[in-house]
Amino acid sequence: MLSPNRRSFLQTLSTAGFGALLAGTALPAWSRQLERSLADYSSFDADKLASEEDFWYSIQQAYTVSPSIINLNNGGVSPSPRVVQEAMKRFQDLSNEGPSYFMWRILDQGREPLRANLARLAGCHPEELAIQRNASEALETVIFGLPLKAGDEVVLSKQDYPNMINAWKQREKRDGIKLVWVNLELPSEDTAYLIQQYSSAFTTKTRIVHITHIINWNGQILPVRKIADAAHDRGIEVLVDGAHSFAHFQFQLKELGADYFGTSLHKWLSACIGTGFLFVKKEKIEKLYPLFGAPAGQETNIRKFENLGTRPFFIEQAIGKAIEFQEMIGAERKEKRLHYLKNYWMEQVKDLSGVEIGTSLQPGFGCAIGLVGVKYRKPADLDQFLFNKFKIHTVGIEWENIKGVRITPHVYTTTKQLDLLVKGIREFVKSGV
Ligand SMILES: Cc1ncc(COP(=O)(O)O)c(C=O)c1O
Repeated sequence: MLSPNRRSFLQTLSTAGFGALLAGTALPAWSRQLERSLADYSSFDADKLASEEDFWYSIQQAYTVSPSIINLNNGGVSPSPRVVQEAMKRFQDLSNEGPSYFMWRILDQGREPLRANLARLAGCHPEELAIQRNASEALETVIFGLPLKAGDEVVLSKQDYPNMINAWKQREKRDGIKLVWVNLELPSEDTAYLIQQYSSAFTTKTRIVHITHIINWNGQILPVRKIADAAHDRGIEVLVDGAHSFAHFQFQLKELGADYFGTSLHKWLSACIGTGFLFVKKEKIEKLYPLFGAPAGQETNIRKFENLGTRPFFIEQAIGKAIEFQEMIGAERKEKRLHYLKNYWMEQVKDLSGVEIGTSLQPGFGCAIGLVGVKYRKPADLDQFLFNKFKIHTVGIEWENIKGVRITPHVYTTTKQLDLLVKGIREFVKSGV
């Protein structure tokens, strides 16, 4: 049985096909192949589909990624599929026909439907979701907007993202708040240990805990709900950095336990570069100052976080196409495929002499992102070796107690490409013997 989302995507393709036929041209090959694959594999469950290369090859063809490099740094930022790129270009062309009319009066009419669609995908109320340009903007709105005073404590970890750490440090300098640091030993499959690291840092002065849902350095998934429960039991608020979790693995915001949550959409949703959202629990909106001043009357309105001024609405509006693409694949299928890809390469290198694996292979503790290192060798050397010899683009990580090369496939990555990665890691190991 086809899901309603996949059926509607197919209908869109067929309608496009009818129009194209009228215009004397056929649907492009990638789109015909995708249409066939979606139908052929519609009865496969997520586990079975995870290893069906023909299906995922059709997904790859829906992207325009370069065949001259193998991009395994989707953890940095991800490309968009063609449908998203094309929508963005159409909306940009339209904007240039008369920006103030087409952007503000026409395209902006898409803002509320977009808010509703994103909220449906995220599992929250639309009145709790503000559209932003990236995770940094969303999270810094919270970091700088919370009414905190000198002596108030914030619990965060050394393994959080630098932009967020820097923002908190700025508040420490400016307002005299106290930062209480957790230092995580990762990877970990010990939920009790992870909760304990945070809860033992809580005091009567703690006002908020900052939790990174997926640690970007090595892909560790943290037990956010359980840490949030421990925080809420003591009246402590919870800010979640979901830059890497949203549209990567499945969860619903209303069940996560976050009071505030920020994410980028140009990572795992494959929306255009420069997109994100901020979630603020309804009852918390009033006390949170926006980064950009808002007009009177908007105090309890989530839209008070969207007074940014003139910006590319065409980028924002193309998010809708990325949501369709996500739903066409299906969240469970995507999660299982991403997990499969990470484990596919890691299983093949983990027992090589000198290889150090920095990410859990277990669902619940890791998904697509994997970290690998070789004893006594620099991460930057492995990163360079993979690129120079195999044109595999990765990133070397040396941050606090985390060291290795981060490998991040996406839905368009094939196992053939990962076979080359495995070959590259094997050759690097041999080259040091
Ligand atoms: C954990 C984490 N938080 C926040 C960010 C910031 O995201 P952006 O650059 O999209 O603002 C990143 C980016 O990689 C990240 O990995």
